[in-house]
Amino acid sequence: MTIGIAVIGAGMAGRAHIAAYRVAPTLYAPTLPELRYISVCDINAELADVTARKYGYERSDSDWRAIAADPDINVVSVVIANRLHLEVARGLVEAGKHVLCEKPLSDTIESAKEMAELAAAANTVVRIGFTYTRQPGIAAIRQWIQDGTLGKVLHFSGRYWCDYGSSPKAPISWRYKGPMGSGALADIGSHLTYLSEFLCGPMTAVSGGSFSTAITERPVPVGAVTGHGLAEVSDELEPVENDDYATYTAHFGDTVGSLEVSRVAAGYPNALFFEVFCENGAASFHQDTPSQVRLYLNDDSSATNGYRTVNLGSDHPYLAGGMAMDVSGVGFGQNEGFIFQARAFLEEVAGIAAADSLPQNAGFDAGLHNMEILAAVAESAGHNGMEVTL
Ligand SMILES: NC(=O)c1ccc[n+]([C@@H]2O[C@H](COP(=O)([O-])OP(=O)(O)OC[C@H]3O[C@@H](n4cnc5c(N)ncnc54)[C@H](O)[C@@H]3O)[C@@H](O)[C@H]2O)c1
Repeated sequence: MTIGIAVIGAGMAGRAHIAAYRVAPTLYAPTLPELRYISVCDINAELADVTARKYGYERSDSDWRAIAADPDINVVSVVIANRLHLEVARGLVEAGKHVLCEKPLSDTIESAKEMAELAAAANTVVRIGFTYTRQPGIAAIRQWIQDGTLGKVLHFSGRYWCDYGSSPKAPISWRYKGPMGSGALADIGSHLTYLSEFLCGPMTAVSGGSFSTAITERPVPVGAVTGHGLAEVSDELEPVENDDYATYTAHFGDTVGSLEVSRVAAGYPNALFFEVFCENGAASFHQDTPSQVRLYLNDDSSATNGYRTVNLGSDHPYLAGGMAMDVSGVGFGQNEGFIFQARAFLEEVAGIAAADSLPQNAGFDAGLHNMEILAAVAESAGHNGMEVTL
């Protein structure tokens, strides 16, 4: 068996997938079949070509249909604007491909439902990448909640602050288009929302939804832009349609959490951070220091007790045998999350039993559920913060 790989989208996150597939077979025992790195596809043909050569893929394409039509390609990551996910995922699944799609699942609840139906009827592995669950620190905190070290969550507090939109000169892009809730809430709030359930269990209701759009117009770029970078812009301005900032209260049965996200948080390039307060102590994670977590346990001596810093290494999820240098203190970050995610996807496609593989990626049903929560937040925000049951 040979697995042929392609990635659609060579932008910011696309490159993370393209690189992750290259490293994935080097983790852990060599259980994966032979991999072929076949194509990088981007509508920007020059970017696709440069990226394919840089990461050692055999060719580039500028139309995703060429990927769907190639019988040698089995596995495809879909890493393009949210509004394009449905069309491309459908074409790939209908062509018999295994699909790993980026979050959020789509741009509207209606298209997300179609995607979930598509996945339910598929004969291939169809998954969504909520990459942050692969952060060893976050996985360790979940383990401590579940094995009783921390025990039941009493209260969650999470923030995802980014500053990619904090300059009024940051060019307009697909991220700023769509209804309220499709901005910061969908882009980064989808991650934080998924993580809150990963740690606290199923959300039962949301309340206190609130949005703001701090910068209402942005300049049109002169050329192509990817990701969050500043670029040369023209004098022409276009309206920002969606939220720069969003906040809501999450109800997990009898546990409550507060979630807040912003793309105009100057000084925070990419700061996902949260704290969980539990019956036996508390823990916190900050993306600025991804190879550490802070832990507090109630039953330590009260005279010397306090939050301690735990350096993550070979005693923690994903790391033992999973890094070229797998010892505490070496450090790792967000790119490694994409590598663990790619490895899990390839293991599932290769038919490696769940018990012998990394935790499998979530299905499109989980992606739809995540979007239903975001839609409930938008409904709450539209009704003065009213509680909306899920
Ligand atoms: N998991 C994460 O941490 C993470 C991080 C960033 C982005 N994302 C997600 O990844 C997706 C892409 O985000 P991004 O920041 O990489 O976007 P981006 O704007 O940087 O890149 C998108 C790329 O898609 C290309 N493109 C546009 N239309 C296309 C088409 N029809 N066919 C092929 N290529 C096309 C563009 O030319 C561009 O290079 C989004 O769904 C986003 O939410 C996830």
